[in-house]
Amino acid sequence: SDKNYILAIESSCDDTGAAIILDNCILSNVVASQKVHEEYGGVVPELASRAHQQNIVPVVDQALKQAKITKEDLKAVSYTRGPGLMGSLLVGGSFAKSFSQSLDIPLIEVNHMQGHILANFIDDANDVKPTFPFLCLTVSGGHTQIVKINDYLDMEILGETIDDAAGEAFDKAGKILNLPYPAGPIIDKKSKIGDPTKFKFAKPKIDGLNFSFSGFKTSILYFIQKEVKANPNFIEENLDDLCASIQRSIVDILMAKIKQASDETGIKQIAIAGGVSANSEIRARLKEGEEKFGWKAFIPKFEYTTDNAAMIAIVGQLKYERQLFTDLSAKSVAKYHI
Ligand code: KG4
Ligand code: ZN
Repeated sequence: SDKNYILAIESSCDDTGAAIILDNCILSNVVASQKVHEEYGGVVPELASRAHQQNIVPVVDQALKQAKITKEDLKAVSYTRGPGLMGSLLVGGSFAKSFSQSLDIPLIEVNHMQGHILANFIDDANDVKPTFPFLCLTVSGGHTQIVKINDYLDMEILGETIDDAAGEAFDKAGKILNLPYPAGPIIDKKSKIGDPTKFKFAKPKIDGLNFSFSGFKTSILYFIQKEVKANPNFIEENLDDLCASIQRSIVDILMAKIKQASDETGIKQIAIAGGVSANSEIRARLKEGEEKFGWKAFIPKFEYTTDNAAMIAIVGQLKYERQLFTDLSAKSVAKYHI
């Protein structure tokens, strides 16, 4: 075939993903999410890498089948080099390296955070695509960043969290409320029927475009401990309102900084990316910015927000077009600046 089919592999944290892309279109996007971590209240790195080892071959196989191609049709293999958990990254990285070797096709390394952002350029990610420069609020379980995107592969971080990520704030607040991990999607769901103005939590005061969520988490913990002492059923009786109030606070913090970034740079095209951008309130508030602040909001389709290989595939394709290949010497990296 003369078509440029590219395989992408994602294994940075606890989701094993494989996707096939052809000319901006995702032909398949398979994700195996690991259930083993639920009972531990967070991702256990050793269990994650073992699960990746079990999942990777069937996930790649399924991605090829769903795209109705065979491995011989592939023109390149792209994979997540970092950032992430070292053991997890190594599974995807080693697989991608041997796959590209055995097929004798180029190997392309991808920065996971660039993947989250560039997912906005997947053909069916959103109707209109951003033009350069634009701003992106990247919010996941491991990162919270405001990024200025000058070109596809030219990005600057304008601000980021100095402690916990926004997703961690959701997950740790959920843990305090005895919710299973990851709590973000559950808090989102319960918030729909809760009162977001019922409880107030301390908002961080951080200069510039950086974020902080650790004090916020502590203020929730102390508040809950105090209330539960007075009424052991406090959490159960107020769960929906607690969720809605926590979500409102986190989204307020995020919105204030992206607004500040837009005001300071004069850039009005605002995208969101990462697992927390699946949140219904942040999606609605960003959209509201179009009326309120004259923004153009870019909100990727749900399946391209939480960790997936389609977002690695779009970067893989952009690098393939530019012949930006790597080789077996590329080491997986737990920290990887965009
Ligand atoms: O991007 P992602 O899948 O993995 C990382 O790279 O970290 O993000 C996972 C994070 C988790 O903290 C999860 O609780 C959060 O995204 N998340 C949400 C929602 N869906 C996922 N947080 C709030 N609302 C949601 N609907
Ligand atoms: Zn991620």
